[in-house]
Amino acid sequence: MSDDVTTVDRVLTTTRAVRRRLDLERPVHNDVIFECIDIAEQAPTGGNLGSRRWLVIRDPNVKSAIAEQYRSVSDLVFANLGDSASPVMVSAKHLADHLHEVPAIVIATIHGEHDGSGNPGLFDSVIQAAWSFCLALRARGLGSAWTTMHLNRGEEIADVLGIPDGVTQIVLLPVAYTVGNDFNRAPRRPASEITYVDHWGYTTATAPGDTIDLDDEPGVTAEIDITATPRHIWELICDPNTPAAFDNELQHAQWLDKPGLGARFVGHNRIRDVADWETTNYIAHYEPGRVFGWHVMDLDEPSARWTFEIEPLGGICRLRYRMIMGPGPSGTSAAMRKAPAKAESILAGRRKVIAANMTITLEGIKNLAEADSSR
Ligand SMILES: Cc1cc2nc3c(=O)[nH]c(=O)nc-3n(C[C@H](O)[C@H](O)[C@H](O)COP(=O)(O)O)c2cc1C
Repeated sequence: MSDDVTTVDRVLTTTRAVRRRLDLERPVHNDVIFECIDIAEQAPTGGNLGSRRWLVIRDPNVKSAIAEQYRSVSDLVFANLGDSASPVMVSAKHLADHLHEVPAIVIATIHGEHDGSGNPGLFDSVIQAAWSFCLALRARGLGSAWTTMHLNRGEEIADVLGIPDGVTQIVLLPVAYTVGNDFNRAPRRPASEITYVDHWGYTTATAPGDTIDLDDEPGVTAEIDITATPRHIWELICDPNTPAAFDNELQHAQWLDKPGLGARFVGHNRIRDVADWETTNYIAHYEPGRVFGWHVMDLDEPSARWTFEIEPLGGICRLRYRMIMGPGPSGTSAAMRKAPAKAESILAGRRKVIAANMTITLEGIKNLAEADSSR
């Protein structure tokens, strides 16, 4: 890999939201800000229309007026910031409290108001440019944080800055040199979990070649947003009889051990008029309130791995249901090996059935959880 790629990738992966490490003392000259705007303007723009407009706010009185508007929103958002506040919340509040002290505030705007028509050239054209601006800052030892809180006071800010009607504000970027330069990659889900190849929800554990085979560990992911607490959802998903109530294949389940990590349950399965079979399943992930997962037939060489994962999303939860085939043998892998010419269509057919069952299972769990919560 060339040095350029390493450098570019470092900028792309370490441009963090910098709030507490903005150097409020070191001056930032307009030259560097204008240079970064020139770079940012190379970003794509719908219809090739040059409708982006940038505001650079340096005057201390104007900065204070903007910061006051920003704080009027953040004070409401962070009013009850107690011991349970996340580090991001604490950091965001710090920024709000010090916004008037940053050397410069940059607001990216665009001529036009979004009418939802899908018409390109409106604010879809600003985000990529404003992000390029952040990357260009990072390459020069400066930092910023993408903020939108001010949009709740968009009219008041437009009054302060004289922004005319018909111009849309998109993002407010505090700009400063950073204290130190050692920023890291953030934890994010890997591409293999959130990238679907050729069909919604169809995953592979590694980037597949021209055809998807078993070595790619094909899988299916389904997700649903549920208005219920993690505890509530956990109580449903930690019982394999819950999916059995909805899934067309899994009929019922029986624990062989006390539920917990390493415990076993037997799954009784049926494909009507085709087959009945039993599986022994091993609990491989057991994190109450978060993850419940099991391996089919063998803990180390399972024929499949299934996982429920609860992700709290501020008031609601996203329930993710994942299935990954292999690496051990299964009915599907046997059929694929027996008929290599049909392997792809066998896999596609199996994934279709699994995806349908996962979807009805998630819908069933959502209905149960939301009915329970509204009681
Ligand atoms: C659409 C959007 C809105 C955001 N709004 C704010 C904001 O109002 N205030 C703030 O401090 N950070 C805001 N952020 C920054 C996120 O909190 C930040 O990106 C997230 O915590 C992840 O941190 P990272 O960017 O360093 O990985 C926003 C980010 C995005 C993409």
